[in-house]
Amino acid sequence: MSDAFDTPCALVIFGATGNLASLKLIPALFHLEQAGRLPDHLSIIAFSRRDWGDSEWRAHLREVLRDRISEQCPEATCEHFLSRFSYVKGEFQDPAAYARLLEALAQPRMGACSNVVFYLAIKPAEFPAVIKNLDEAGLNKPRGLHRIVVEKPFGEDLESAQMLNQMLHRSFNEEQIFRIDHYQGKETVQNLLVFRFANTLIEPLWNRNFIDHVQITVAESIGIDGRADYYDRAGALRDMLQNHMMQLLTLVAMEPPPALEPDALRDEKVKVLRSIRPITRKAVHAHAFRAQYAAGNIQGQSVPSYAQEAGVEKGSTTETFVAAKFYIDNWRWRGVPFYLRTGKRLKEQQSMIAIRLRHPPQQLFRETPLETLEPNWILLSIQPQESMRMEIHVKQPGLDMNTRLLQLHAGFRPMNERVLDAYEALLLDVIEGDRTLFIRFDEVEWAWRVVDPILKYWAQEREFIHTYAAGTWGPQEANRLFDAEDQEWRNGL
Ligand code: BG6
Repeated sequence: MSDAFDTPCALVIFGATGNLASLKLIPALFHLEQAGRLPDHLSIIAFSRRDWGDSEWRAHLREVLRDRISEQCPEATCEHFLSRFSYVKGEFQDPAAYARLLEALAQPRMGACSNVVFYLAIKPAEFPAVIKNLDEAGLNKPRGLHRIVVEKPFGEDLESAQMLNQMLHRSFNEEQIFRIDHYQGKETVQNLLVFRFANTLIEPLWNRNFIDHVQITVAESIGIDGRADYYDRAGALRDMLQNHMMQLLTLVAMEPPPALEPDALRDEKVKVLRSIRPITRKAVHAHAFRAQYAAGNIQGQSVPSYAQEAGVEKGSTTETFVAAKFYIDNWRWRGVPFYLRTGKRLKEQQSMIAIRLRHPPQQLFRETPLETLEPNWILLSIQPQESMRMEIHVKQPGLDMNTRLLQLHAGFRPMNERVLDAYEALLLDVIEGDRTLFIRFDEVEWAWRVVDPILKYWAQEREFIHTYAAGTWGPQEANRLFDAEDQEWRNGL
């Protein structure tokens, strides 16, 4: 942890009345308050367009806490938390708003500290205005002290990501920039490194000699949650696959880093991304599939189609489901397909990494009822279940040679331990200046290089998109990506 001099005196949340702030940032900050992990002197400034003052903001804050925090909070902790906040009203493009922000930061309660964190919880299209205005107001200085947190997606393709990065670098040093991918804050995601590199049992199997293929699924049953203005421009490929899922892929596929240091780890992740076989224009059809949800039924409730969601452009062909196949052309993985799939309004929420092992080389049971043995699987469930499972065959007790599949199941967390939200860990890291779990630009850049050919190809095919009924596991046609007839999506544990 950094010493008190380095810890920020203020956190400014741009977009404080938005979805991300209400759903994630405020509850996470509150939990850090409860755990006594927020620096005593930290003030939080909510910056937003709504025509509010401090008292309206605090009333809103109370509502957010009431809706989002399940446990009872001692009155004194709540009051202390609320007292950290003040509100600055402003348009992101308006220089006068930044003058008001400067005034708020000069309030006596901020003390002599000159270290501020700016959190951009806003739409990507609004980043440039905020960065430019922070710079013009001198709020990027002193260089090296203030920090800026940028949410994903970082750009909307390779070129715009490079431009955004250049723009950030004109005003901030790399040490000041925290590119956030909240999947890095999930404990089950961090556990991938521990699972792989702290157990000698696993490592010898983790390669093309033993692994048939890898599936990474991030299925959501929720829809777009009123975010059409962002989502309709982004789609599932930009929203989930280019960032969260690529990060999962790198953690599954990377080599052990020489040390658990931020750059050592990132170097290994970048090597994976650089080894992904580029998808040529002609190959896009065989490597990627997109679709959009039609109306359907989720857990007994009818839900509308994507096209009927408020704010979605008429005739939109934005994908809410994407499946893709990648090959990592290195010694460890050559020839092993990595199948990735994510979608909204699928049957249930389920994020997992499913690793199918190869069939045994010898068909020893050919002459018995076991002729067609199912392969072994290793299942690493990220959420909502947090578990590690291995499926192995054992003999079924009895006179005949039959087997049954046994799951060795290790729960990740004891029943009563609270699940930390990813944002709690990441906000604390920003406050403490620890960049280990944040994304370096070359990771972003190489991930864009991987998906850019797909995006470009799809951009020219805007007339038609496959659909799938909400509440299903997605369209059948996504099966066309599989290399072998015995490969199929693994739904559920
Ligand atoms: C966000 C996406 O980054 O991640 C959302 O913009 C998605 O569309 C969310 O729902 C999923 O996060 P989690 O933590 O619920 O898996």
